[in-house]
Amino acid sequence: MKLTAAVIGCGTISKFHFSGLDKAGAKIKWVCDLRKESAKPWMDKFNARYTDNYMDIMNDPEVNVVNITSISTVHKEMCLAAIDAGKAVICEKTLTVSAEDSYEIVKKAEKAGTIFYTSYMKRFLPAVEKGKEMLPSIGKILSTSIRAFQPWGDMWSGNPKEGACHTPPGGTSKLVQNCGGGVLVCGGSHVLDLVCHFLGRPNRLYAYMNIPKDRDYDLQAAALLETDNGPVHYETLMHSLDKLGYLRDGWDETIEITGTKGRINVYCPMWDKGDVKGSMMVHYDNATGTATEYRFAPVSPFDRAIGFFCENISKGKQGAQSRVTGYDVDELISQIGKSAESKKSVEIKWKI
Ligand SMILES: NC(=O)c1ccc[n+]([C@@H]2O[C@H](COP(=O)([O-])OP(=O)(O)OC[C@H]3O[C@@H](n4cnc5c(N)ncnc54)[C@H](O)[C@@H]3O)[C@@H](O)[C@H]2O)c1
Repeated sequence: MKLTAAVIGCGTISKFHFSGLDKAGAKIKWVCDLRKESAKPWMDKFNARYTDNYMDIMNDPEVNVVNITSISTVHKEMCLAAIDAGKAVICEKTLTVSAEDSYEIVKKAEKAGTIFYTSYMKRFLPAVEKGKEMLPSIGKILSTSIRAFQPWGDMWSGNPKEGACHTPPGGTSKLVQNCGGGVLVCGGSHVLDLVCHFLGRPNRLYAYMNIPKDRDYDLQAAALLETDNGPVHYETLMHSLDKLGYLRDGWDETIEITGTKGRINVYCPMWDKGDVKGSMMVHYDNATGTATEYRFAPVSPFDRAIGFFCENISKGKQGAQSRVTGYDVDELISQIGKSAESKKSVEIKWKI
């Protein structure tokens, strides 16, 4: 099936999706944004039609892929409309800003048989793929440590005076208006997705969050998660240290999985630099006492993710990535919030 796509939301992230759709051979028929000036470069590049009303896209029978790259707080209405209209959906993360809303969407998509993806692109980093491929070789999994420490600048000395991270007294920061939260939602969500990807859904967790009194978002979140593959030590943090991480560029996002026969370490590059900074995986094999380092050439994980989604859509199948991945992460975010607030562990009752 030939793919005819529409992109809703032409802000920062959209360039990665336009690139992925273009490389996958999809025709980009519509671009939609409330601000015409944001859509204009893409209208021109792809000779696409413009609308500020996404229902024009849903009402176009030629469109078979709806790509949602608007802010997370409006994903729900767009996803539901696209499912109703019978389109396949690629939606940026996080799927929504609440577990209940994400559940409503994936339940509807499952019922309708919609091909539906939440685009957690880090699954498509070569180091993540290699780590997943080699996971069986480390034997029974005993322990996992996973973190997303991101360089956001000086966030700890006080409420920023301006910009998206400024919380007005008694008001809501742009960060929360657009994304629904702080580092847990923005950065930590990706590695929660990787927890599910590598180890399966957690059953229980105990969490900690740091939300300063002058802010409406978190600067740090940590959790101990129980999975059928052992405990996971999880943490995400905004920091101001310039040289952290395997590339010494401040980006410190790693997964370490220790088993009875070996260990896997995965290192992820800065989220928007995958096409210029390579990912890395180290495999330690206890039988030979050998550690093998795999350094991968840079490649855009967005191109690879969207390529995978489009290939499946063109074949009319969901493929290896389930519809519910976006809900899984949003449920974990919600339970981390509940546990941190109550200071009690919570059992996770998966709704689907
Ligand atoms: N995968 C990642 O690592 C990553 C990184 C950054 C952002 N994101 C996600 O990407 C999404 C977009 O983030 P961004 O940084 O590009 O935001 P952005 O603010 O730069 O762009 C969002 C665009 O959506 C448009 N928009 C808002 N409401 C709309 C509506 N009702 N109809 C049409 N257009 C509308 C805005 O005008 C804006 O141009 C968010 O869900 C965010 O969480 C993911």
